[in-house]
Amino acid sequence: MKTKGIILAGGKGTRLYPMTNIFSKQLQPVYDKPMIYYPLSTLMLAGIREVLLISTPEDTPNYQKLLGDGSQFGIYIEYKIQDSPGGLPQAFIIGEQFIGDSQVCLILGDNLFYGKLDFLRDGIANNHGGTIFAYHVDNPTEYGVVEFDHNHKVLSIEEKPVVPKSKYAIPGLYIFNSKVAAYSRELKPSMRGEIEITDLHKHYLRDNELDVVTIGRGVAWLDTGTPQSLLEAGVFIQTIEKRQGTKIACLEEIALQQDFIDLDSYQKLIGSLPECDYKNYCKKIINEFNR
Ligand code: TTP
Repeated sequence: MKTKGIILAGGKGTRLYPMTNIFSKQLQPVYDKPMIYYPLSTLMLAGIREVLLISTPEDTPNYQKLLGDGSQFGIYIEYKIQDSPGGLPQAFIIGEQFIGDSQVCLILGDNLFYGKLDFLRDGIANNHGGTIFAYHVDNPTEYGVVEFDHNHKVLSIEEKPVVPKSKYAIPGLYIFNSKVAAYSRELKPSMRGEIEITDLHKHYLRDNELDVVTIGRGVAWLDTGTPQSLLEAGVFIQTIEKRQGTKIACLEEIALQQDFIDLDSYQKLIGSLPECDYKNYCKKIINEFNR
C-alpha cells in the first residue's frame, strides 16, 4: 500500500507572537534550519516521497520558495492553502484528491522527532485503518490523551483533559487509510469551533480500526509552539549536532541516504548552496559516502 505524507503548517501561532506576526511558525528557525525541515525529514526517513504541504494563504508562497517542487530531494511536494485554521482534520478534506486511494501520514509542522524512527516505519507497514502514537509525558493535559490496556487496546481518548486518565499524549503524527477524508467531512465542529482530530480517532475506534503504538524513551518528541519549547528544541538540536558532528534533518543528506537522489545529483545540489557551515557539512558527507 502506497503511503503519502501531509504536513500541516498553517495555524495562527499566537503563542509565538510577535515572531509569527510577519511569517509562519514553521518557518522559524530551530537552531540552524527552518522548523519545517524537521517534519519533512521525518516523512522522508519513513520512505515517503509524495508530500502535500498545507499552510495559510500568506505563507504558502514562502514554503514554495523554500522547498520548491521537492525534485532536488528526489521527492514530490504539492501545496494547498487552508483559508483559516478550522482544525487538524481539514488537512484530509483539503488533501482528499492528493490522498486518492493511498494511505496517508499526517505530521504537524511544529512536531519534531529525533531518534530511531522504526516505530513510524512499522506503523506505516502495519496500518489497517488508523494508527496513532502514544508518548509518555509529564504534562498530558496539554495534549490529546490516550488510555490503553496491556494489549494496546484503546480504552479512551480525550482532548486536553483536566484530569488525564493516563500519562500518554498523542503526538502530531497520524496514519490513516484513504477513508479518512470522507470521515473528516462528517465531523461537526467542537465547542471551540474546530473539527477535532480526536473525533476522527473515535470514529476509527468505533469501527475497531484504531491501533495505538507507543513510542519508547529512545525517541525524543518535542513540539515548538511556545517561545520556551522553541528555544529548548533549538538547544537540543545544537547539543546533539555539536557532540556527534552530524546534522539532524539535513534534507540533502537524507535524500542521498534514502537513495532518492544519486551522488551526481547530490553534488550538483550542494554546488548550488551558498558558502556556509551547512554546505561544508554537506560536502563532508560526500567523503564519507565515498568511503
Ligand atoms: P496549534 O499549536 O494548536 O495552533 P497554532 O500553530 O495556531 O498556535 P497557537 O496555539 O499558538 O495559536 O497547531 C498545531 C499545528 O497544527 C501547528 O503546526 C499549526 C497546525 N494547524 C494548522 O495548520 N491548521 C489548523 O487548523 C490547526 C488547528 C493547526
